[in-house]
Amino acid sequence: MRADKVTPQSLLSQKQNGTAIAAVTAYDYPTARLADESGIDIVLVGDSLGMAVLGYEDTLSVTMEEMLHHARAVRRAVQQAMLVVDFPYGSYQISVEDTVRNALRFVKESGSQAVKLEGGVSQATRVQALTTAEIPVFGHIGLIPQSVHRMGGYRVQGLSEATAAQVCKDALALQAAGAIALVLEGIPRELAASITSLLTIPTIGIGAGPDCDGQILVFHDLFSLSFRQPPKFVRSFGNAATLIRNGLEDFREAVRTRSFPNDRESYHMPAGVSIELTGAHQPANGKR
Ligand code: KIV
Repeated sequence: MRADKVTPQSLLSQKQNGTAIAAVTAYDYPTARLADESGIDIVLVGDSLGMAVLGYEDTLSVTMEEMLHHARAVRRAVQQAMLVVDFPYGSYQISVEDTVRNALRFVKESGSQAVKLEGGVSQATRVQALTTAEIPVFGHIGLIPQSVHRMGGYRVQGLSEATAAQVCKDALALQAAGAIALVLEGIPRELAASITSLLTIPTIGIGAGPDCDGQILVFHDLFSLSFRQPPKFVRSFGNAATLIRNGLEDFREAVRTRSFPNDRESYHMPAGVSIELTGAHQPANGKR
């Protein structure tokens, strides 16, 4: 575990002194606790919750109540890392007032230290309003999963001069509006490198190459728990699915063969206490 708490200022120092920022998503107490104890800088309760944990097709169905429920579990585990919570689709698209109201819920009801929203220039007013309300904001640009229908799928963004220039404009608009960091997702590494050197705030990449100020991955992708073909940018750092599947098969076999539980795993009557069952309580097949 890190000795110090992660703050907006410490993230900025990491950018300035070149210490790469390590970030991961988490949605529950045990995984958030492991992330925090491992010295991860940022724990994001992402709306990837919908796909990683709740079994939805995409992130669009995730609700405020689901985000709050999981964020509270993560909050109980995280001590040193910065806890960031994602706005789910529909919780900030309608009005600036809704955006601030929902962000205040994240802070008050789940102890979130920062919020994250998707979109660039079009979200600058909201970022400004949240910043005025003293809520630190992470922007998220490039491939933004909540815009899957507009993008026509999960496609790499910024591949032409015009679209690359738009991603740059988005980055600058969010920084000017007060964002404390930006997630750059699914853009060419050259574009991510240019944006990273252009901005004074840190960039956290996912599918944006190695030149960002930090990297984030979805927990279930990191440990091969996502039950899908992972995107090209994912590296598996351990196969938890195999570990758990093997363990469950061993458990099933141990139960079937009655090698679990054994005598040491059983409670015993105290010496001298006998069991006298009346007929009504005796098991019909004589098994105990
Ligand atoms: O929801 C999420 O997990 C995210 C990360 C992929 C950055 O937004």
